[in-house]
Amino acid sequence: MPLNQADKQQHFSTAVLDWFNQNGRKHLPWQQDPSPYRVWVSEIMLQQTQVATVIPYYERFIRRFTDVSVLAQASQDEVLHYWTGLGYYARARNLHKTAKIIDEQYQGQFPDSVEALGELPGIGRSTAGAIVALAFNKRAVILDGNVKRVLCRYHCIEGWPDQSQTQKQLWQIAEQYTPEKDFRSYTQAMMDLGATVCTRSSPRCSECPLQDSCEAFLSSRCDQFPQRKPRKSLPLKSTRMLILLSPDKSRVLLEKRPPQGIWGGLWSFPELQEEIQVQDYLDQYGFKAAGNTLAMGEILHTFSHFQLNIRPLVKKLRQEPSSIMEKPDWHWYDLQKPQQLGLAAPIKTLLAQVEEQL
Ligand code: ADE
Repeated sequence: MPLNQADKQQHFSTAVLDWFNQNGRKHLPWQQDPSPYRVWVSEIMLQQTQVATVIPYYERFIRRFTDVSVLAQASQDEVLHYWTGLGYYARARNLHKTAKIIDEQYQGQFPDSVEALGELPGIGRSTAGAIVALAFNKRAVILDGNVKRVLCRYHCIEGWPDQSQTQKQLWQIAEQYTPEKDFRSYTQAMMDLGATVCTRSSPRCSECPLQDSCEAFLSSRCDQFPQRKPRKSLPLKSTRMLILLSPDKSRVLLEKRPPQGIWGGLWSFPELQEEIQVQDYLDQYGFKAAGNTLAMGEILHTFSHFQLNIRPLVKKLRQEPSSIMEKPDWHWYDLQKPQQLGLAAPIKTLLAQVEEQL
């Protein structure tokens, strides 16, 4: 006898939960004491970033910012410092904004509804659902990248998962399959199934609890779902960065980037606009330099929407940085005593190279 809709839903969630009990991940750091604060920090870090990358960052972050009011009271520079290397820095800025809102407007207590959480900076519908289910063990629906992949294959859903029509359909299906109990386990199970079995390439269908009813598996089309948006090649941009060293090479000039845009709020080297020569820049600020300009190896950095070719130029000053060489957005960074500042990944790499080579 064919299964009716309720039976199909029951079959799906039971299979996923049984699989989770045997094979799911239960020792991730944020699963130990899954408080709303710890779950929220982990979910934000896990957006666009894999578990193995997140774990050391998460542990360091939680050791320093033990609860939401400690985080609210920290400086943005320090928060960005702990995020250095994780990328997508808007996540860290929003995390800090949300911490202040929770501390000041919610007496340090996270709300437990998807609607209220979804109002907070950096928390979208799926992340809100994950926090409600994982931290409060209440019923909520999630649809992150992993879950989208599982559902697209399970029902051979046409279209790209980020198209609005496809999204709508996926949310409906995700809602239908979310059971009326075991919210925390089911939510973690779906994420784990997507991350460890229903992987983007070479899925492990032989280990999948949904094999008997997965439309893509049954028609040997797992490699065709989710459908991919044809990818345009990323545009290439280029920039020159000026590494200005103090005469004894102990300090280097960093400049804080504007709050919005690429690397917003992070510290970087001054960038030279196309038409500006190194000497023009030095003259503009009254810097006196010694010797030639040294070109260091170029660095290619990939962002989600473009690639940036960085050409670093090194110049040594003739005078020590003094009070006239101070500006609010400048910092003379001591290479021997690294400070707690948010640095974009290539800037961190360049600082290490400068220290090594000079
Ligand atoms: N990706 C997003 N949230 C996750 C979680 N809680 N566990 C593992 N992977 C995740």
